[in-house]
Formats: sequence, structure tokens, C-alpha cells
Amino acid sequence: MCGIVGYTGVQSAAPILLDGLKKLEYRGYDSAGVAVMDQNVIAVHKVRGRIAALCEKIQDGAAVPGFTGIGHTRWATHGAPTEENAHPHLSNDGRFAVVHNGIIENYLPLREELIREGYHFQSETDTEVIVHLMERYYKGNVRQALIKTANRLQGSYALGVICSEEPGRIYAVREASPLILGMGVEENFFASDVTALVNRSRNVIYLEDGEFAELSKESIRIFDCTGRQIDKKATRILWDVQAAEKGGYEHFMLKEIMEQPGAVKATLAPRLKNGGVEFEELAGLVPQLASLRKIVITACGSAYYAGCAGRYALERLCGIPVEVELASELRYSDPLIDEHTLLILISQSGETADTIAALRECKAKGAKTLAVVNVVGSSVATLADYTVYTWAGPEIAVATTKGYTTQVAVLYLLALFFARCLNRAGDGWERMIEAVQSLPRRIQQAIDMNASIPALAKKYHKNPDIFFIGRNTDYAVALEGALKMKEISYLHAEAYAAGELKHGTIALIEEHQPVIALCCNPAIMEKTLSNVVEVKSRGAEVLALTYRDNQKILSVADDLLFIPRVDPLFSAAVEILPLQLLAYYVAKENGCDIDKPKNLAKSVTVE
Ligand code: BG6
Repeated sequence: MCGIVGYTGVQSAAPILLDGLKKLEYRGYDSAGVAVMDQNVIAVHKVRGRIAALCEKIQDGAAVPGFTGIGHTRWATHGAPTEENAHPHLSNDGRFAVVHNGIIENYLPLREELIREGYHFQSETDTEVIVHLMERYYKGNVRQALIKTANRLQGSYALGVICSEEPGRIYAVREASPLILGMGVEENFFASDVTALVNRSRNVIYLEDGEFAELSKESIRIFDCTGRQIDKKATRILWDVQAAEKGGYEHFMLKEIMEQPGAVKATLAPRLKNGGVEFEELAGLVPQLASLRKIVITACGSAYYAGCAGRYALERLCGIPVEVELASELRYSDPLIDEHTLLILISQSGETADTIAALRECKAKGAKTLAVVNVVGSSVATLADYTVYTWAGPEIAVATTKGYTTQVAVLYLLALFFARCLNRAGDGWERMIEAVQSLPRRIQQAIDMNASIPALAKKYHKNPDIFFIGRNTDYAVALEGALKMKEISYLHAEAYAAGELKHGTIALIEEHQPVIALCCNPAIMEKTLSNVVEVKSRGAEVLALTYRDNQKILSVADDLLFIPRVDPLFSAAVEILPLQLLAYYVAKENGCDIDKPKNLAKSVTVE
């Protein structure tokens, strides 16, 4: 997720922009830049890498005169992290500079259209189409050009724009990406979030989707997409910077749990088109799908459990055997992998040593390699033959949440995409597309349906052992749920295939032993119900995860977690939500360091 800032006032803009960008560093980024207007000339300065390098390049802003400017920290989504791809982007005529946070879903046709009209592109980014559209539509009125440009864009965008014909003015537009205006004395600001503003102004205006703003040092004017002016009230910010970085949440992990509907939507939406699934980045793989004899998914930690969850849809829809292997095991098992194998590597960071090693090992055996990665330009993304990005944005908490759910979402998309390519779509296609399309809404419902979790955490947080049981997809989710509980609350938790309990584990069930039973698949509900009764009869306390009208489970469970009904083939990214929240609140009860659990790293780049 990128960060944007803007300033116009009576002070030198560059140092203020740099200060605002530093406050956005926590969001994660790989390049940064500023564009400052002096008289009627816009100067752009950008670097690949840290803001410190940008500060050095422009002597903390002293080398850049001007009282009006915009700045950007880039988290690469389209185009590797390079200086050319860094924002701000400048129009060919030098009149406009733009910074952007979000994803322009229709940038490819716009890019082709603009190139045909003679516009020259300096970068690989989706963002650059915006600055050339501004040049094309500008006929002397920036506001009109901005409205026409925005009307051409599909996707999410928080934009900052300056025009050399209008010194002293900055423009901002918001559509599905946060954008806040800060009000000062003889100066005004905008930024992606409060952290970049709060040191300079606590009087802010939250722009809403479809709203445009024109800021000068004396005034802020807000208008809608028809150019009609809108009155909006200011809000007084009471947060400090630290709280603001977490968006008001106590921990990054909780903030990232709550970001999941948006992160999954950002990952799904650009690929769900015309009633189907599109992956431009996999065009070279499509002709080879028919020759595949198996798919192997490999990863570590939660990414491995995402593979366990996504394999059911892949196998069922594509009719190809799918194996899921721990990368640390696969790399030393001399696997039976050849040119008829598709190896899918899942990695949030793209830098996990075991996953990279497994990639190299299997590539050497002839496998076709497809990476599902969150960090653009990371090692796994660079080494794989094909890469599909999860657009979750930077994940700060060590224990992954939105990384996992966006990985699962991509696996669902791949299952549908491959099935269609292999002419195996069959009946129920529309229903399945709808099921995947509705996941962001279902995830939000799964958050909203479980207000009781903090109280449940108080009940269960002292138990030294917690068992998670389930079958099929429920079992795959139980694995991730148990890992979340272990890694942030330090309670011992184990996930078992529900049918396995009677083969040994049930010997451990004592009086009041908490067992979390995932019961979200109607087709095997009776089987799981019998496992619940098994452990209940031995004294267990059962916390069941199910949907509201499942009367059978409701009658035997001691406590309940709910999710909305979802096709079990696509339910893992929804089922995990209550378990993420339960782990979070149990860890909070236990006073754990939730964002940085002991002994853990966000990415294990060594063996
Ligand atoms: C662990 C992380 O170190 O590595 C987990 O704490 C993650 O959250 C696992 O699932 C794999 O990391 P990555 O970056 O390859 O997904």
C-alpha cells in the first residue's frame, strides 16, 4: 500500500513533504519521491529505496525551492521497485505531476490508447496513465481535467496532483483508497493517513469516495464528480502518531485482520472480469496446462496452510492431483517432479529461504513454477517462471492474517481460471464465480458476527492446551487457526483431522479440555457432529465454529463462533476470521507482544 502527501502554504514544501513521508514509512515501501513547484516549474526527485536516500539527494529538502508539492512512498504492485517506477510521475509536457495509492484496474487499455495518441511512458506502472490523461484533458481548467480523468479510471485511487499553471494549488481525489485533508494556518495538507498530518494539524477532513479537493494556502474546496461544491465538517484528531500508525487499533495485527475485506477485494477484483477470471500474467502458462500430470503446492508456515486450504478447489475444479508439501521437506526429499508438474510457491515476503531453495530444486527438475507472492520484485517472484501477486499491501505484524486470506483467494482464482482454460468449467460456474466474488463481504460478516470473542478469550486464555478439529476444508483452516493461537498467545494448540481423534489423540481429552470444532461443511456435518459428541462425552468443552442456523451443533456445543454460509470449496478465507480474532484476544489476555511474538520473524531468510 503506497502513501501520499501534499502541502501548500508559506513554508518551504520539500522538508514538510519529507517529514510526512517519514511518518508513512511504517506502511512499508520500496521507493519514494517528491514533486515541488517553484514559480511555474515542477521539479521531481525520486529514489529506489529508503526516504533517507531521498533526504540525502535533496539535502533534506533544502535543495528544492517552492511552497507547493506532493510526495509518495511506493509499495510496488505493477512494475518492479525502481527509480523510474517511483512516483511522482510527470506528464510529457511537464505541466502535471501525480502521486497515487491504489490499483488502476483498466490501466492496460488506457496505456495502449495513450501510446496510440503519441504519449510517451517512462515507467511500467498503472499510475502513469493518470498523468497523461490529465495532459490530454487539460484545456485550462485543472478541476475539469481531473474530473474527466477520474471518470476514465476503474479501480482504487487516492490521487495527489499539481499543475505548473496553478502555482500554490494542490488537488486530491479519493476513490476506495483513504485520503485525508489537514487544515492549517496559511497552509493546507493532504495525506493517506493521519500519521503524516497529526504533527502539523489535528483538524482534518476525511474525503469520501468520489470526492475531489482543491487546496490553496488559504482555502480547501471540495466538490463531487459533477463539479458541484460540497460542504464537509472537520474532525479533531485526538490520536498520537503511534496510535495513528495502527489506524486507531491497539496492534497492527488487529488492524490487518480488519483490513482483510479490502485486501481480498483488491486481490480479487482486477481478476474477476466479464463473468470469469483473467490472468494476463499467466498467458504463457495456459498452453502448457493440458500437459500437467500434477500440481505441487509448497510453502512454509501459514503460507503452507493456505496451500492446504486452496488445494481442494484446485483439485476438484481442475481434475489434476494436487500435493501440498512443506518447502523445508520438499527441498530434501528428491521429489518426483518433472516438466509435467506445476509447482505453486506461496510466500508473503517472497524471501523465505526454504521456499526459495525448493523453487530452485524443482525448477532444476523441469517443473513449471508459479509464485503467489505479496512483495513485488522479491526473490521468489523473480526466480519463478510466473508470478501472481496478492495485493494485500504491506503486512507489519509478524503473524500473518491478510497475507493468508489473500493467498487463499488467489488459489481460488487459479482453480477457476485453470478449470476454464482446461474446458472443465462445467455447470455451477456462475454460482462459483459469485461465491468467490462475495468473499470480501462474507469476511466482513464473519468479523461482525463474533462480538463475543473478547469474552470467550477471557474464558479460554488460561488453558495450557487447545485442540482444533475439522474435516476437509475445516481441517485445513484448523491447522492455521492452531498456528495463530500458538504463535501469538503461546498456548499449546494442535489441529487434528476430526476423524483421527479416535486413533490416539482422544486419550488426551480430559475434563474441561477445550476443543474448537470447525463445523462448516454440510456434506460431512454428521461426521463432525459425531466427533464433537465423542469429545464431549469425555468431558471436553467444545467451542464450535459454524453458521447460525446449524441447530444440531448449537445444541451440543458449549460456546459458538459464527460465519455466514459459504460454499465449503471457497470457505477457508472466511472461516479463519473468528480464529484469528480468538487468537488475538487470547494473546491480549495473556499480555503477549502480539505484533512481535517472541522468537519469531516476519520472514525467515535463513535455513
Ligand atoms: C514465518 C512467518 O516466519 O514465515 C509466517 O511468521 C509465514 O507468518 C511464514 O507464514 C512463511 O513466510 P512467507 O513470507 O514465505 O509467507
